[in-house]
Amino acid sequence: MTYFPDQVDVVVIGAGAAGLMCAITAGQRGRKVLVLDHANKVGKKILMSGGGRCNFTNMYTEPENYLSSNPHFCKSALAQYSQWDFIDMVCRHQIPYHEKKLGQLFCDNKASDIVAMLLDECDQAGAQVVTNCAIESVTATDAGYHVDASLGEVVCRSLVVATGGLSIPTMGATGLGYQLAEQFGLQLKPRTAGLVPFTLSKDQLQPMQSLVGSSAEVRISCGDQSFLENILFTHRGLSGPAVLQISSYWQPGQTVVIDWSPHLALEDHFLASQQQRPKTELRTLLAELHTKKWAQVFCDELTAALGIASNPLNQYSASDLKRAAEYFHQWSILPAGTEGYRTAEVTLGGVDTDGLSSKTMEAKQQQNLFFVGEVVDVTGWLGGFNFQWAWASGYVAGLNA
Ligand code: FDA
Repeated sequence: MTYFPDQVDVVVIGAGAAGLMCAITAGQRGRKVLVLDHANKVGKKILMSGGGRCNFTNMYTEPENYLSSNPHFCKSALAQYSQWDFIDMVCRHQIPYHEKKLGQLFCDNKASDIVAMLLDECDQAGAQVVTNCAIESVTATDAGYHVDASLGEVVCRSLVVATGGLSIPTMGATGLGYQLAEQFGLQLKPRTAGLVPFTLSKDQLQPMQSLVGSSAEVRISCGDQSFLENILFTHRGLSGPAVLQISSYWQPGQTVVIDWSPHLALEDHFLASQQQRPKTELRTLLAELHTKKWAQVFCDELTAALGIASNPLNQYSASDLKRAAEYFHQWSILPAGTEGYRTAEVTLGGVDTDGLSSKTMEAKQQQNLFFVGEVVDVTGWLGGFNFQWAWASGYVAGLNA
């Protein structure tokens, strides 16, 4: 039994953020659109995003907030459909939202408000969305594309691939988009888990046991990139927004540097405190930066690394205080790895942007074939940037499919 028409203008594979936005835009142009998804419901990642409140965009979205082999590629789509365009849609649907921090916009209520809005827009635009429909094969024909799916066959003039990345396989992630790219001669950039916690070795974890669950504001750096954000100690290693952000820039074997006192120059602070309260122990002074437990653990680390024990401040030489200050400003750690796609928020890499038009998202060598959203080698920072890329890239493909 066929559940959908045998001929449409546009088939979109994937009813996630990018696919639904593309369907809305193409439908509004009068195109007959069919969205197919193998999952049992649409927008599963939207539903689980932002702790259930969906950080749906960022007010300060700029091309600089994205990683890609071609950092210029995202500019056109982001300019054609900005964060303000999406905020307009959210306002039209009277969805209450707020800025959490750093321009990150979240729903006041539930992420399902965003999914309901997208489905309502699909409905108004006449785009049909079908779930529980596995894609069996796609072939190019003279007229366009022939899609063979578990619920029937359909012919379309344009095909849009919006299958997302590989993260959280239990939420419906598959590699179909990458397979289709290869089938039609597009190149792929290597894929790895991004926005993902670091794991540490047993030896590294052992001294930090007492800190599990606690967080601290730090500046975290890897190579030339750095972020000022919170770090979280976990049973497996390190997480929190600071770590997720830097993980997208990290390569195995690279050291990550953490400044535990990003707002206070420690050498000056130590020297001044030595004058003002000479009997105070270094550990007590450090506890004022974060917590007592943190100071305990990191004073022990300091002793192990530099042989500087926690003593009253008047017992230190200026050079010891300088070395201790540098240690806390430039604490370095070599992560054992990451938690991988199981917990990653995004997939870095993907369909090589060299093969796509940045203005339309259409494949340069394959007419009427489009790739949008996370399947493409464009990855945003944490903070609503990935959804903004999904909306923007989906929109421009919808204008052209
Ligand atoms: P998306 O993954 O949304 O959709 C792809 C769709 O394709 C899915 O519906 C899937 O079922 C379907 N599909 C896959 N393979 C298929 C196949 N073989 N056949 C048919 N259908 C197939 N970003 C952000 O900006 N703010 C946030 O708050 C968060 N929070 C967040 C939390 C968590 C836990 C995760 C995992 C991710 C985030 N993200 C995020 C990232 C964000 O969710 C992600 O970048 C976008 O959903 C990408 O949108 P796409 O439409 O490209 O893929």
